[in-house]
Amino acid sequence: MPQKILIIGNSDGIGAAVTHALVTQGDEIVGISRSPSPLGNNGPRHEVLDVSTPEYPDLLQRLIAEEGPFDTCIYCAAIGSELTLPDLSREAQVIEVNLTAMVKTFAALTPGWISRKHGHFIGLSSLADDFYNEDAPSYTASKAAFSNYLVAMALKLRSHGVHVTNIRFGYVDTKLPKAARKPLMMSTAQATDYVLQCMNTRPIQLSVPKLAGAILHSLRWMQSFRVWTS
Ligand SMILES: NC(=O)c1ccc[n+]([C@@H]2O[C@H](COP(=O)([O-])OP(=O)(O)OC[C@H]3O[C@@H](n4cnc5c(N)ncnc54)[C@H](OP(=O)(O)O)[C@@H]3O)[C@@H](O)[C@H]2O)c1
Repeated sequence: MPQKILIIGNSDGIGAAVTHALVTQGDEIVGISRSPSPLGNNGPRHEVLDVSTPEYPDLLQRLIAEEGPFDTCIYCAAIGSELTLPDLSREAQVIEVNLTAMVKTFAALTPGWISRKHGHFIGLSSLADDFYNEDAPSYTASKAAFSNYLVAMALKLRSHGVHVTNIRFGYVDTKLPKAARKPLMMSTAQATDYVLQCMNTRPIQLSVPKLAGAILHSLRWMQSFRVWTS
């Protein structure tokens, strides 16, 4: 049966690829991003809005009233910011888009899902949530809180019939990652397959690729040792 799915941040990258795949398989999509949908006017409904603006919660309520109830929400919106000292002016905006707007989205959808005992929130996090990144501290901090929040909510809501999945990706081939070297990078098609797999199996967390996760985790232990001995 076709699902009704709200996708936040689906004009580009993984969100756009997931939208294309779900439309192709017959699901009903509503999207939000700052740019128009690449699928154009003949594609699914798409609202153009910055999720960090005060209008965002009102838009969510309007979409729930007009298009809901949604079966699933996939939160893909994120920005990165490389820290170039002494300018810290973009740091708070990264937290707003990557974390605060996700929490607002979650808050808008979950009460209805609890009353219907049905709903699935999928958030796209990063293997970098387990790492101190001096060059992009707001991005990694936003993802650390993002993952922690969603896993805690998954544990809290499971008995209410609401599923929450935190997907921790390594490098995916989109415009977002700016690193000079991107080991073990996957394609957006591979990332899409993982998202679709999670829609079916509804795990609390998926970390892929596993090898990248293990390497980053080891580096994090080395960082922790450095912090501990400093
Ligand atoms: N690519 C990677 O290597 C990688 C690795 C790990 C995790 N992830 C995560 O996967 C998710 C998707 O990343 P991606 O690589 O697909 O990034 P992307 O290609 O840059 O796409 C990001 C999407 O978010 C939207 N967006 C950004 N700021 C927004 C705002 N203020 N309001 C509304 N929409 C906004 C963008 O659309 P507009 O610009 O039109 O607003 C775009 O559709 C992110 O959460 C990211 O952290 C990515």
